[in-house]
Amino acid sequence: MTMNSIKTAGRVRKAVFPVAGSGTRFLPATKAMPKEMLPVVDKPLIQYAVEEAAAAGIEMMIFVTGRNKRAIEDHFDRNPELEMLLQASGKQQLLDALLTATPKGINFVFVRQPEPLGLGHAVLCAQPVVGDEPFAVILADDLIDAQPGVTAQLVQSYERHGASVLAVEDVPLEDTAKYGIVATEALPGADASEERVTLFVEKPRPEDAPSTLAVVGRYVLRPEVFAELARTQRGRGNEIQLTDAIARRVPQGEVIVHRFSGTRFDCGSKAGWLDANVALGRRQGLIY
Ligand code: G1P
Repeated sequence: MTMNSIKTAGRVRKAVFPVAGSGTRFLPATKAMPKEMLPVVDKPLIQYAVEEAAAAGIEMMIFVTGRNKRAIEDHFDRNPELEMLLQASGKQQLLDALLTATPKGINFVFVRQPEPLGLGHAVLCAQPVVGDEPFAVILADDLIDAQPGVTAQLVQSYERHGASVLAVEDVPLEDTAKYGIVATEALPGADASEERVTLFVEKPRPEDAPSTLAVVGRYVLRPEVFAELARTQRGRGNEIQLTDAIARRVPQGEVIVHRFSGTRFDCGSKAGWLDANVALGRRQGLIY
């Protein structure tokens, strides 16, 4: 199948947020709290991710959760007692801040991943809710400061080409083993930020890496990926990898990358999370 013959499978209306991971790198902070609830300045990581999705026109936020994730459900629910308290004491600004977590017209759906079998397995758990339509996958610990948001950038590429789209950026050669790494070729009719994927490998050692172009935590995927996930065996780290399922669609010419514009903070690491707090805190005039 050529790229031009790939029909788009409809508008991107749903986003999947895999949030079942244990977040051991931030212990003890994450002992009783999910890592996605770590704040950057005054907002949890997961809310940045949800706002980015909403700005891209996503209407259904699907969280794939595990044990210990109640706080995420509560965060995206109303809190009438607190709302009344803030209202009664005239604290309008705080009330507005509280309500930003539950924007109107957005549905929040929670699906459980019963066992921690990997990112690919987590995404597969969302299949009954996503169904047969394209969807975004957003990993909240990659906080990406961008205007328009990276999910909106990917949705645009998807609408132009009808292919699954991966957000990528160049990383230092010594870091390839932390990421899915792609090899690419020119994509006819694309702009400079887009290329077609010819190879996709999960976390190769620097000496085996086909390039230094790394996939960050944003994807827009065609629904065919679910069938691939269903037959994907455990791979790297003995986990069912999203990368391996997407890689099976590469020979069909169905996978492209988008070099996003924006700044990524790896908030899965302490240094990246601190950087994000400093950068966004400075923007808000809290520090100089
Ligand atoms: C996951 C993916 C990897 C991707 C990365 C982006 O890895 O498996 O391909 O490059 O997210 O953050 P993780 O960071 O969950 O180990």
